[in-house]
Amino acid sequence: MIDSWNEKAVRVHRRLLVTGGAGFIGSNFVLYWCDTYPDDRVVVLDALTYAGNRGTLAALEGRENFRFVEGDICDRTLLDKLLQAENIDTVAHFAAESHVDRSILGPGAFVQTNVVGTFTLLEAFRQHWKTPPFIPPVNGGDRGEIFLHVSTDEVYGSLGPNDPAFTETTPYAPNSPYSASKAGSDHLVRAYHHTYGLPTIITNCSNNYGPYQFPEKLIPLMCINALIGKHLPVYGDGQNVRDWLYVIDHCRALDVVIHRGKPGETYNVGGNNEVKNIDLVQTLCELMDELAPDLPVRPCSNLIAFVKDRQGHDRRYAINSTKLKTQLDWSPSVTVEEGLRRTVEWYLKNRDWWEPLLSEEYQTYYRQVYVS
Ligand code: NAD
Ligand code: TYD
Repeated sequence: MIDSWNEKAVRVHRRLLVTGGAGFIGSNFVLYWCDTYPDDRVVVLDALTYAGNRGTLAALEGRENFRFVEGDICDRTLLDKLLQAENIDTVAHFAAESHVDRSILGPGAFVQTNVVGTFTLLEAFRQHWKTPPFIPPVNGGDRGEIFLHVSTDEVYGSLGPNDPAFTETTPYAPNSPYSASKAGSDHLVRAYHHTYGLPTIITNCSNNYGPYQFPEKLIPLMCINALIGKHLPVYGDGQNVRDWLYVIDHCRALDVVIHRGKPGETYNVGGNNEVKNIDLVQTLCELMDELAPDLPVRPCSNLIAFVKDRQGHDRRYAINSTKLKTQLDWSPSVTVEEGLRRTVEWYLKNRDWWEPLLSEEYQTYYRQVYVS
């Protein structure tokens, strides 16, 4: 770990437990981390729900410093064993139920994984944190343990058109069962630092996009539906605004936070790329027309269909990342134009990855949301 007080910048190898490492952001993070810090130990714990895909990490299987464990963050016995056996010093907690539309259909799983699961992980880490053997201090520093809780900007609620972007001190006002369950988990993490001194950090990030995102989310859904000639369903009037960040820039932000973030703090992460949904879909259509040779329907925008709005649909998210930029010297490296192009190209080239995900379960979910 490169500590701010350690001028020689000696890096001690970390031993990470990455929960949800087979999901979209978690898998990008694991691939990024193993590539950037090949001598670190990375243990992935993932329940392989519909959103988890072990195949995404296939290139790492068999590496000495990598281990995949299929299991649930609500399983305390498993957590205790893993934390101890692997002598974990860094938890990167991504595991969650993450899709707003699914949270509207069935909030129970969100409370279970996001709230109860995070609580169980915190309890296990608290127990482990108090248990020697400790990793030797780095140049007089502490053990360097971190519990990084990866959260969302959605906990702050919805903005009006002229409201300033969310900062770390914006009051929480979650509107969906998803964001409410994430807010609950954030509060628990905060309380574990305040009460027990657990070295926790919370990051609240805006909408991510990029490779390996499950087909149900806006950007992959539009790419895949265009490729198979299905309608491109835009909720409501399409004027809702999201702040988009390329997933690797999120991983880079988590890297600086793990290495140099201050325990007890929250950092907002965002791309400063506010885009209206309809404009984003139009851009994706143009990229599809340009890059996909065999589109069933061309121009692709002929497939756009305005559909019934999502219940309780938040109007606008925007995130202010000034704290992360000024204190930890992070800034996004991929523009939204470049990131969307890369993403469309990825979905075009990686049909083998997404086609099996359009399963019977997915079709049932799709009918529940889009055909009612
Ligand atoms: P995802 O749905 O793609 O992946 C979630 C992963 O967690 C899956 O691999 C799933 O199998 C696993 N999982 C679910 N329940 C589990 C359980 N009980 N035990 C162990 N593993 C379990 O989600 P994502 O988009 O990669 O999001 C990762 C994290 O980042 C989430 O906490 C989410 O709230 C947060 N986040 C996401 C975004 C975004 O735009 N996707 C933005 C900001 C924050
Ligand atoms: P989504 O990717 O589900 O992320 P979130 O709801 O967490 O922001 O949706 C992004 C935006 O796109 C959101 O305003 C809802 C909208 N949307 C559609 O218009 N149509 C769709 O089919 C989906 C999945 C989302």
